[in-house]
Amino acid sequence: MLHRFLGSTGLKVSRLGLGTMTWGTDTGEAEAAEQLRRYVDAGGTLLDTAASYGQGETERLVGRLLGRVVPREDLVLATKGGINRREGGRYVDVSRRALLRDLDTSLRRLGTDHVDLWQVHTWSDDVPLDETLSALDLAVSAGKARYVGVSNYSGWQVARAATMQAIAPGRARIASTQMEYSLLQRGIEREVVPAAEALGLGILPWGPLGRGVLTGKYRTALPADSRAASPTFERYVGEHLTTSAANIVEAVVRAAEGLDLTPAQVALAWVRDQPGVTAPIVGARTADQLQASLAVEEVTLPDEIVEALDDVSAPPRGYPDA
Ligand SMILES: NC(=O)c1ccc[n+]([C@@H]2O[C@H](COP(=O)([O-])OP(=O)(O)OC[C@H]3O[C@@H](n4cnc5c(N)ncnc54)[C@H](OP(=O)(O)O)[C@@H]3O)[C@@H](O)[C@H]2O)c1
Repeated sequence: MLHRFLGSTGLKVSRLGLGTMTWGTDTGEAEAAEQLRRYVDAGGTLLDTAASYGQGETERLVGRLLGRVVPREDLVLATKGGINRREGGRYVDVSRRALLRDLDTSLRRLGTDHVDLWQVHTWSDDVPLDETLSALDLAVSAGKARYVGVSNYSGWQVARAATMQAIAPGRARIASTQMEYSLLQRGIEREVVPAAEALGLGILPWGPLGRGVLTGKYRTALPADSRAASPTFERYVGEHLTTSAANIVEAVVRAAEGLDLTPAQVALAWVRDQPGVTAPIVGARTADQLQASLAVEEVTLPDEIVEALDDVSAPPRGYPDA
């Protein structure tokens, strides 16, 4: 698998990352182990998790697989802090106290003394940005994180954070921003992509298959084994089961038929090769689904297909960001 630098850092990662959000909930340990094995065998290095996934069970599962399936040092291990889930609720706290507690908890669950990329999972109006960023500085200086990033920040938020870190001597530079980006969600092209490119941040797209919708599996029915039919993820996938999304899915299906690829492969290749993107973080419930996504390494979409997909999925633009 080809590797790319994470933004303007010296860290190289494979150009396809592996997500773990379903591990420990909809994906069991044996299936997760098989996914990791196949991903590493294909040359993948970037494994993304979060303190909040599976209320901590996902990181525990990843911790059990590290060393057993792949040597820890062969992976660029990424996690996130700042969101916690318990008793069905979602709690955001990006204070220095909460973030550093989350990081120590993540390290304990993962069974490692450092992560390679530690990301603030989301923006919060409740905490001064400088305080949130100071937690990133402390994590790097304590050797608990090699690089730091943010996630789900708007354009001005990511530009402000990256600039604050860049102009003050000795602070940890923001390496990346992890954002939803796919043919079904191109909102980041207005402000986040230009900000990331101007400030040297790598973009890690999450949900590159439109949370599963771009596989085309929901065109005619709701498959019983899909996430849209699972209580954990029903609402998450449902956000992309709209009429406008259906038109884009049809275009992806037509392109895939013409290229003898799967719709998922077309969707993944499109986002992987967008400007500013370092590595989409793909998800899979089963190892066979992942195998199909890994085959995208051999795929480059023809320019005319990219243009057609760009046209059909173009987000509304206007003053002042056109
Ligand atoms: N930073 C953030 O806030 C944030 C938010 C969300 C996710 N993430 C990260 O991004 C990763 C990916 O997110 P995602 O899982 O939503 O992204 P995705 O890659 O768009 O969707 C993955 C889902 O698509 C379906 N799928 C995949 N390959 C398939 C195939 N060949 N055939 C049929 N269905 C297939 C599976 O769902 P089924 O169960 O329906 O089969 C799979 O779980 C997560 O694991 C996580 O690491 C980050």
